[in-house]
Amino acid sequence: MKKIAILNGPNLNRLGKREPEIYGTATLKDLEKLVRAEAKKLGVKVKFFQSNHEGVLVDMVHAFADFGTEGFIVNFAAYSHTSIALHDALKSTGLPAIEVHISDIKKREKFRRHSMTAGACVGMISGQGFPGYVEALRRLAKL
Ligand code: DQA
Repeated sequence: MKKIAILNGPNLNRLGKREPEIYGTATLKDLEKLVRAEAKKLGVKVKFFQSNHEGVLVDMVHAFADFGTEGFIVNFAAYSHTSIALHDALKSTGLPAIEVHISDIKKREKFRRHSMTAGACVGMISGQGFPGYVEALRRLAKL
């Protein structure tokens, strides 16, 4: 069974409470449920991890890769726009990653329009809400 890790970055633990006009009212737990349901259909094993700390996310990228993960779905949130360390961590695994953003980063503030980490990914899905994670899982399942 293919193993995919889903990593969420800072402030995504606050989904449901956080700027609902942008991110909606569903929670991180709701997101996990949605993705788990799709994983079951696809016959894929999924592991979820969220942290507000850049270095912890770097460590977890390494750990997931070293323990048999075959691909990543990442929403590094604000770190997507700044983190060379997370870019390099993904690259260091040699594994396919798809970056997801709930909101459409190209249509928001200028400082969100560029993703530093997308260069280490095979694709990016932005602005599709939670279904973006489901689409990412479908794409990785086919690789
Ligand atoms: C986000 C977009 C980022 O710009 C922002 O910092 C987030 C969430 C998204 O999913 O739309 O925290 O990654």
